[in-house]
Amino acid sequence: MTIRVGVVGCGFYAQNHLNSWEELKSSGAVLAAVCDVDPAKAEAAGRNFGVPFYTDAAGMFDAEKLDLVDIVTRHETHRALCELSIGRGIATIVQKPFAPSWGDCVAIVDAAAKAGIWLAVHENFRFQTPMRHVRRVIDSGAIGQPTWARINFRTGYDVYRTQPYFYDEERLAIADVGIHVLDLARYFVGEVRHLSCETQRRNPKVRAEETATMMLRHENDAVSVVECTYGSRKLPDPFPETLLEIEGENGAIVVNIGLRMSVTSGGQVLEESIGSPLRAWTSEPWHASQEGAFNACQHFLDCLKRGVPADTSGEDNLKTFALVEAAYKAAEEKRAVEPETWRRKG
Ligand SMILES: NC(=O)c1ccc[n+]([C@@H]2O[C@H](COP(=O)([O-])OP(=O)(O)OC[C@H]3O[C@@H](n4cnc5c(N)ncnc54)[C@H](O)[C@@H]3O)[C@@H](O)[C@H]2O)c1
Repeated sequence: MTIRVGVVGCGFYAQNHLNSWEELKSSGAVLAAVCDVDPAKAEAAGRNFGVPFYTDAAGMFDAEKLDLVDIVTRHETHRALCELSIGRGIATIVQKPFAPSWGDCVAIVDAAAKAGIWLAVHENFRFQTPMRHVRRVIDSGAIGQPTWARINFRTGYDVYRTQPYFYDEERLAIADVGIHVLDLARYFVGEVRHLSCETQRRNPKVRAEETATMMLRHENDAVSVVECTYGSRKLPDPFPETLLEIEGENGAIVVNIGLRMSVTSGGQVLEESIGSPLRAWTSEPWHASQEGAFNACQHFLDCLKRGVPADTSGEDNLKTFALVEAAYKAAEEKRAVEPETWRRKG
């Protein structure tokens, strides 16, 4: 079974998606066409990957027989593009953040549900090899039920060089990277009952917050601290590693810089390196993020072929997006906030 994929958006991060679909050829993915409103980017991607290129998504959807659309544009375009692909009956993946507002995200999920269209959000941190490893340790029961966690993405790496639009975003740390770490908190510890949040703007060149410290109370009573910053001064800089401590009833998992994991279980300590593998088209230090994107695409392809929802389906990702919204509200109102998903039916 082959799946013809059309990629919309050929900018910075889309290169990882394009390479992933190319590598997934042996698993049945066919990169069929690419599209970018910037003709130079569309043409460069089309020529690099030897596929037709378009500057208009609707034109590409009409001209190519696509089984899957992969949207890798920035969030302000996500709703319109999703509605376009869903409206044409094409399975759709959209990059995080799902959309600019809660209302937009719900509208996309509802449109897909109404049309019976498979929808996934390209949330990739939980697909990174080290994070999968941590989850396997939790699933093994080695530490028992998680009761407390600290999960952090703290860096001073110059992310503004490849993503200059970060300077002008109305929302930065939580919406861009906190969203991944909040998703990991759900993935490792469980759904969230309420959260509080303090934001900081320590870099005057940046319009929005570049640091956030969040505290979550989970449904199972566990507590987690979720931290993210693009303004760390710490050396060595762990970019783009997510570091963590998870304490359970019977033990603990610690992931330190260099992706060294130690698992304490039954009074014994096991040390292991859980670094991200390099793929032919990835390079340090981004490889940890790049291979997460590959693993995510592989998962989406597999789920679509089997006709099952992705782990990060649209419906699932509403729960992560609700945490982002709750975090901004909590920071603004200086109080703990329940995520919107608590109030959503079904
Ligand atoms: N998962 C991750 O780890 C990760 C990392 C970086 C970026 N991202 C996400 O990837 C997305 C893209 O980010 P980026 O840094 O590559 O941005 P970018 O600006 O480099 O690329 C976006 C591209 O989309 C094109 N575009 C805009 N509107 C379009 C439309 N209607 N039709 C076709 N093309 C259109 C632009 O011309 C541009 O080339 C964002 O949602 C970002 O949050 C995710």
